[in-house]
Amino acid sequence: NLEYFIVPAASYLIGSIPFGYLIGRLHGIDIRKVGSGNIGATNVTRSIGKIAGKICFFLDFLKGALPVVLVNMTFEENTANLALAAGLAVILGHVFPIYLRFRGGKGVATAAGVALALAPYPLLCALAVWVVTFLTSRYVSLASIVAAASLPIIAALFFGLGIGTPFPLANSTVFFFALIAFLAILRHISNIKRLLNGTENRFDSGAGKRG
Ligand code: G3P
Repeated sequence: NLEYFIVPAASYLIGSIPFGYLIGRLHGIDIRKVGSGNIGATNVTRSIGKIAGKICFFLDFLKGALPVVLVNMTFEENTANLALAAGLAVILGHVFPIYLRFRGGKGVATAAGVALALAPYPLLCALAVWVVTFLTSRYVSLASIVAAASLPIIAALFFGLGIGTPFPLANSTVFFFALIAFLAILRHISNIKRLLNGTENRFDSGAGKRG
């Protein structure tokens, strides 16, 4: 059962790769010292630009999906627990990266990649929740919080109805999504404070950045 050590450890190291930080470095800035200070795609968009932000999102998303997909491809039996362990480890890597003294991001893009690999239909619905919340509020953080919170509920509905369960451990997956939502909300405390006192950054519909 050595894989239960190696897979989470490797996933954690993959998750630790701070793409937002690296993109910032390529542009000659320390992303942790500008904008919200976060190393995620939102702050890369805000501080560098839309294309850099999209690249950052894509890479953070991909690093989330990769370990789960690899586990499902490599191990033939009982991959469910191992896939969940890989998913948790890669998200923890992004949030607490070893290369940045454990000060990482909020985990939204990486968790979305994990969720796509674990449960694609619920993830697509949560993505729709994200888009609607963002378009109506123009707050990325609010959209991320609402979407993260909706994912375990949507997954429970889907699995309850027997739709799109690529996975034997439906209950564990719902619990896993609830844990991820809790972690994401904890990581958004500074955003929640700003939302409540009206100082949160808002992306207007035109150009990429404001505020
Ligand atoms: O995924 C992070 C996003 O929800 C908020 O990012 O930079 O506005 O704190 P930021």
